[in-house]
Amino acid sequence: MIKLHDLYFKPFISEEEIDSAVQRMVDQVANDIQDDIPVFVGVLNGSFMFVSDFVKKYPKPCEVTFIKLASYEGVKSTDDIQRLIGLTQDLTGRTVVILEDIIDSGNTLVEIHRIFENEEVKELKIATLFYKPEAYKKDFKLHYVGIEIPNKFIVGYGLDYDALGRNLPEVYQLKTTQHMTNFVLFGPPGAGKGTQANFLKETYNLVHISTGDVFRQNIKNKTALGMLAKSFMDKGELVPDQITIDMLNAEVEKNSDANGFIFDGFPRTNAQAKALDELMDGKDSQINGMIALEVDDEVLVERLLGRGKTSGRADDADEQIIRNRIKEYYKKTAILKDYYDAQDKYCGVDGVGSISEITERLNKVIDKL
Ligand code: IMP
Ligand code: MG
Repeated sequence: MIKLHDLYFKPFISEEEIDSAVQRMVDQVANDIQDDIPVFVGVLNGSFMFVSDFVKKYPKPCEVTFIKLASYEGVKSTDDIQRLIGLTQDLTGRTVVILEDIIDSGNTLVEIHRIFENEEVKELKIATLFYKPEAYKKDFKLHYVGIEIPNKFIVGYGLDYDALGRNLPEVYQLKTTQHMTNFVLFGPPGAGKGTQANFLKETYNLVHISTGDVFRQNIKNKTALGMLAKSFMDKGELVPDQITIDMLNAEVEKNSDANGFIFDGFPRTNAQAKALDELMDGKDSQINGMIALEVDDEVLVERLLGRGKTSGRADDADEQIIRNRIKEYYKKTAILKDYYDAQDKYCGVDGVGSISEITERLNKVIDKL
């Protein structure tokens, strides 16, 4: 991922893919033109890299010149095309091939045809490395197209976002979701996970998604997914991962303007962790880390027994039950620790100390994500 000015872009088309597209175009053009000596007309600024690579590959004699037009402002095409440098040589009777970096709305192409209206060229052909068919609104024939791309803003290989990015040898695409901080939060029973999640969501404007709550809410509101989940629970079966993922997806969609998400209670298995990665990937985002509160067993037992005395929760009153719950927690999370460790995303945080001390430790870790 790269950042230009205020926006984030993700890798989209590699150098190799560009290179083979350019080669394909050269082969087609050379084959069509045969022994004529063509004049290649690059459209500045965006096409400089394409023209350079194209003519280096061109197998026969050719001429190269440029015109300079400007239409784009920021990430939007405008109707108003400025002619900054026009034709500087007589092209009467010549075979002309326009080399464009990208054709979007086709507005620039209108101006190009206007420039050539009164030139008595033998032939005018249009070659564009990138082409956005969904954005193209004109009827001019495009004789050679390198790579068709969806209607999304790209940078690199000559193309810029407000003057930056032209030098990149590969092409990047604007991310649909901008930068988010997402993490999964873990902690054994009694580690203070709920308390800390509340602070974190305030500090970082994150949405806390507790899978248990999401389940209860969907069932209570009788959503389609809730009813589906309930049908499995009623039979005493585990709810399939896909249903849980669909529910989480709905939560993420509902909060699309959040700075990020705290996932709590999910994932619990390798398959779920993978599914969560895929979900975030589909949103041009990612899980930045697994944050696990680490608290010594004896401290947990003491805390929970203390809580049991005041809350009256039966499962907090029996030391053996408490120890089993802790053991169970470590058994289950060990797999996930390995999963996120392998991606270099596991962050253990010392969960012993005062609430504010622990919050501070968590903040330090999150600031680095
Ligand atoms: P059109 O006039 O709308 O066809 O757009 C053509 C010009 O707009 C190109 O020559 C580029 O300068 C610019 N442009 C169009 N799409 C993009 C893009 O995705 N990234 C960067 N520049 C673009
Ligand atoms: Mg251009």
